[in-house]
Amino acid sequence: MSVLNVVRYPHPSLKRTCEAVSTFNTPELKTLADDMLETMKARNGIGLAANQVNIAKRILVAKVPDRRVQKAVWHDQELILVNPTITEKSGNASIQEGCLSFPEVYEQVQRSSKVKVRYQDVSGQTLELEADGLLAICLQHEMDHLDGVTMIDKLSRLKKDMVQRKLKKLGWL
Ligand code: CO
Repeated sequence: MSVLNVVRYPHPSLKRTCEAVSTFNTPELKTLADDMLETMKARNGIGLAANQVNIAKRILVAKVPDRRVQKAVWHDQELILVNPTITEKSGNASIQEGCLSFPEVYEQVQRSSKVKVRYQDVSGQTLELEADGLLAICLQHEMDHLDGVTMIDKLSRLKKDMVQRKLKKLGWL
């Protein structure tokens, strides 16, 4: 397993709409998922999307510490979601989110408080999970990445400008 390089905004990979995975059970897919988990843990993240490691495929990984997830079944589990889609959502939630592609940026983003997600595992089996709490937010954040949407795209114009100015000051832009 290896730790991959995480791209930072404004890397073009973050703007890409990732492609569905159609070949399962391959060593490549398993290695990519394992490397993404390793990378996420090495960077102390709770979620990571494949285009953050410059691979435009619909894969995300997540691991949310148990005290911040309400549905006990998903506590502290390493999750690998291939081709995830939201099938149901409800409620509103907003927390200060961070992103491994935006170190030093933390912003409130409007999300649903509960989501049902259908996805495939690395062997291609279709599964479903229900998430609330931080896991629900995390999965919505990562699924946005797979559509080329980052958290600052969800901000008001004014907030987005403020973040851009901050990033300029930090020397990223
Ligand atoms: Co992110």
